[in-house]
Amino acid sequence: MKIAVIGTGYVGLVSGVCFSDFGHNVVCVDKDPSKIDKLNAGQVPIYEPGLEELMAKNVEAGRLSFTLDLPAALEDAEAVFIAVGTPTRRGDGHADLTYVMAAAEEIATLAKNYIVIVTKSTVPVGTNRKVKQTVHKANPDLAFDVASNPEFLREGAAIDDFMRPDRVVVGVQTDRAADVMAEIYRPLFLRDFPIVVTDLESAEMIKYAANAFLATKITFINEIAALCERTGADVKQVAKGMGLDGRIGNKFLHAGPGYGGSCFPKDTKALARIGQENAVPMQITEAVIKVNEEIKRSMVDKLLDLCDGSFNGKIVAVLGVTFKPNTDDMRDAPALTIIPALIGGGAKVRVTDPQGRHEGEALLPGVNWVEDAYKAARNADLVVLLTEWNEFRALDLKRIAKHMATPRMADLRNIYANKDAKKAGFQSYVSIGRLPMHSSSD
Ligand SMILES: NC(=O)c1ccc[n+]([C@@H]2O[C@H](COP(=O)([O-])OP(=O)(O)OC[C@H]3O[C@@H](n4cnc5c(N)ncnc54)[C@H](O)[C@@H]3O)[C@@H](O)[C@H]2O)c1
Repeated sequence: MKIAVIGTGYVGLVSGVCFSDFGHNVVCVDKDPSKIDKLNAGQVPIYEPGLEELMAKNVEAGRLSFTLDLPAALEDAEAVFIAVGTPTRRGDGHADLTYVMAAAEEIATLAKNYIVIVTKSTVPVGTNRKVKQTVHKANPDLAFDVASNPEFLREGAAIDDFMRPDRVVVGVQTDRAADVMAEIYRPLFLRDFPIVVTDLESAEMIKYAANAFLATKITFINEIAALCERTGADVKQVAKGMGLDGRIGNKFLHAGPGYGGSCFPKDTKALARIGQENAVPMQITEAVIKVNEEIKRSMVDKLLDLCDGSFNGKIVAVLGVTFKPNTDDMRDAPALTIIPALIGGGAKVRVTDPQGRHEGEALLPGVNWVEDAYKAARNADLVVLLTEWNEFRALDLKRIAKHMATPRMADLRNIYANKDAKKAGFQSYVSIGRLPMHSSSD
């Protein structure tokens, strides 16, 4: 089967590569020439573990190619996936559908034969119907169907998530479209991965409901963490005790500096907006958005306390700036709230991140990028562990503390414990949802 994929970002590229690995003939299209040049040179424009190798394998096999040329990509394609961005629209929180609708119009004018137009981008309920109307208006003679196929992959584990998904969700209106989608996902179907075939609106809603639920779960444990800090409970123990309950589950119960990333912030805002537009306010989601902002801001206060009330003149080492490990994605990362606050307060900030520099340099002006945690911490007044990259999970804390001006650490991912910090010679150590070192019994 020939498939075209529009958009070679985190979702489009992974989907295109994985579809080609299923055995389909895939052409990936982007309007950004620098991305297409890189891809044609065998380079992956983003950081995603395993992607470069899998891409090379399928290019070599002749099943995968990259182009700026949408008309050529659509020729003989039985399905075209729209995997372009749907960022938050300025001002009102709504998902910006400009790119999706532009792609739909382009498809309408260029497709010649029956094609299934599949929206993989996360889009508000009703968008697939709008895509259908737009395409029909632009080209009334085109035979086509629309399908909603939201994506649930996690950056950093994207290939595994795509190849071994918890489920695939497909929203369709016709049997013909359902058959095409079944053919595309046949390798997963044969291996008994659940495929939920439903209507367009339910498919669109599943994606937002799932993301809002996960954002709620994270925010819930973050709020419990704040209460733990006041009451002497240890949020790691609390999360463990909660998570062992099969009805709750242990995932997404790691307290941290507030959720960020390319999806949760924009998708919770979009769901809240959909609720307002339909006069059914999403009160829980609205509260989650508000609490998450407060949690992000409270991190700055936590650091300020650790710096005796002033960042002025302090050297702060920040370990990790991407919104999570194993990605170079900086979209809505907590680092974008915390680091400007440090700089604004007069701190000199040193940053190290295994993959974040490429994106981070433009987003974090005024920081000093260094190679590793030890260089970052040398003569520093404070170390902030912000993203739990593997490299930061087994640091020689003694070595870090020894070379700091004042050995203080804010571990915003709860990687270490009071006793580790004390043993290493840290003067102060704070984490999330646990008592700080000096007032703890251990
Ligand atoms: N990133 C994730 O982890 C993730 C997970 C699940 C769902 N999603 C959803 O998938 C969608 C895409 O997200 P992303 O992170 O891959 O975005 P991205 O910004 O990384 O990539 C979008 C790409 O589309 C290209 N593009 C835009 N308009 C185009 C057009 N008309 N023709 C050709 N190319 C075009 C851009 O140049 C860019 O390369 C969003 O709706 C997002 O919510 C993302």
